[in-house]
Parts: sequence; structure tokens; C-alpha cells
Amino acid sequence: MGEKKYRWHRIAGSKEELLLNSPNGICEIRIQEKNICITNYREGLYAFSAKCPHAGGYLSEGYVDIQGNIVCPVHRYKFNLANGRNVSGEGYYLKTYPVEIREDGIYVGIEASWLF
Ligand code: FES
Repeated sequence: MGEKKYRWHRIAGSKEELLLNSPNGICEIRIQEKNICITNYREGLYAFSAKCPHAGGYLSEGYVDIQGNIVCPVHRYKFNLANGRNVSGEGYYLKTYPVEIREDGIYVGIEASWLF
């Protein structure tokens, strides 16, 4: 019903600052009790649930393939970074979150209805 409303959270001052301590380019942050991974792909930033929807693998320990899919380190299922689609075909769906690069920093949006 209608447009989704987001509450935006500033998570870093810049892309460089955000990924500074993530040697594999995937960092994990916590917003409102949710663990969320963020990664860089072709100049964009993408945010998604930190745990794999299959059996809870830690996606921060996975990697991003050249097509822009996060690959789970446990059973190697693949999920599209932009929409969470399980492109390797097992029928799961990875929750994704919008990311905005603004003048004063990096913001992640969480659906407002989740707050209540
Ligand atoms: S836990 Fe991620 S693919 Fe099985």
C-alpha cells in the first residue's frame, strides 16, 4: 500500500571510511537490532541482511562475484545485490536495504513500519 517509508541512518562519513577495516570489501554494521552487510560494487553501495536466508551463513565472510551477486561462504548460494534474488535458483530471498551516498555521508534506509 503506497510507497515504502524509510528511516535513514547515517553509518559513515564516506565509502572509504566505511570499508576501511574490511579487507574483503564487505563490512557488517548493526542498525536497530539488525545486522546488515554493506559492500561496494561498480561504484554503488549495497546493503543486505548479514545472515544467509538458507541456513544463516555469515555473508560478510562471502564474496561478491563479477555479476554483482553476494556468494554465501557456506553452500555458495548466490543472491543479487540489488534485489536479493536468489540467482543460483534455490528459491530463497535475501533481504536488501536501500543505501544513499549523500554529501554528508552514507545512509541506509530501514522501513519505518519495522520500528513499531
Ligand atoms: S547457509 Fe548460505 S548457502 Fe547455505
